[in-house]
Amino acid sequence: MTAAAQHPPSRRAFVTGVSGGIGGAIAQLLLTRGWAVWGTARAETGWAACQLQPGFHGVVLDLTDREGTLKKFTDCWHEAGGFDVIINNAGYGVFAPFTTLSAAELDQQLAAMVTTTSALIGVQMAALRGLETGILLNVSSLAVEFPLPFMAGYNMAKAALSALSESLMMECAGTGIVVIDFRPGDIKTGFNQVMAARAAVAMARTPDPRVSAAWHTLEAHLDAAPSAASAALAMWRAIQRRRSGVVRSGGVFQARIAPVLVRLIPERLARIIRWRYFGLTTRG
Ligand SMILES: NC(=O)c1ccc[n+]([C@@H]2O[C@H](COP(=O)([O-])OP(=O)(O)OC[C@H]3O[C@@H](n4cnc5c(N)ncnc54)[C@H](OP(=O)(O)O)[C@@H]3O)[C@@H](O)[C@H]2O)c1
Repeated sequence: MTAAAQHPPSRRAFVTGVSGGIGGAIAQLLLTRGWAVWGTARAETGWAACQLQPGFHGVVLDLTDREGTLKKFTDCWHEAGGFDVIINNAGYGVFAPFTTLSAAELDQQLAAMVTTTSALIGVQMAALRGLETGILLNVSSLAVEFPLPFMAGYNMAKAALSALSESLMMECAGTGIVVIDFRPGDIKTGFNQVMAARAAVAMARTPDPRVSAAWHTLEAHLDAAPSAASAALAMWRAIQRRRSGVVRSGGVFQARIAPVLVRLIPERLARIIRWRYFGLTTRG
């Protein structure tokens, strides 16, 4: 492949959540390959690592502000003259037993990660349909296939996002638009740090030892997980393939072996293995 083909000029991407983790890594990767990137964070300090690179445009965007989010995207679309790739990456987890999760916490998470994100995707899809080309990549999670313990709101939000991606794949079949449901397994980012304070409250409030066992297992898995750069590379390869579908990224067991294995064994056995994996029980 020639250098020009590897680094096509004036490609434009819109990426939410570039302040670190997977979003930061894909923004950096695109910028170093000569792309122009409109990257979002909730505060201007969030894009410090990107702003020195030519082609970066910082955007303050908070998914808890639905109207503001839609307007920001539309403004960026016009400023950029359209996007070749749109990556909906921003998201967060809340670790708490469901019975201790307040209605307000659940509402806020679902509003940001489902209601606003899907409204945003609606506006993005309409814009892409106007061009009849482009790639929409939604960052979901392997939690869709392997739900995480004491993270019901997160599991619900990602299941909804993957269902939306699958629906849009159908709607875009035969058009020039590619829809990718990108599902990372554990990736070493600040994801757990964001949840840590709420997790500490959850553990202090419940006598159930399974809550702290699950949290420590999640922490151990994330500590030993592949880097955000490796997830960004998998994302970049998916973008280059230009093929709609589900793309899993992460460690070999989580992202490759487990999704196949789970189809080959009885559902009940898969559930027992999953519970043990998270330190929830030693019995079925
Ligand atoms: N790390 C993993 O193991 C893993 C596994 C599966 C899926 N994922 C998914 O991958 C995506 C990126 O996560 P990450 O691991 O890179 O975590 P991260 O380092 O915590 O990054 C999350 C990003 O989302 C942004 N964000 C959070 N809440 C937001 C809101 N209300 N409005 C706008 N932006 C918001 C954050 O921006 P601020 O800096 O402004 O808060 C940050 O840039 C998420 O959707 C996550 O669910 C991660």
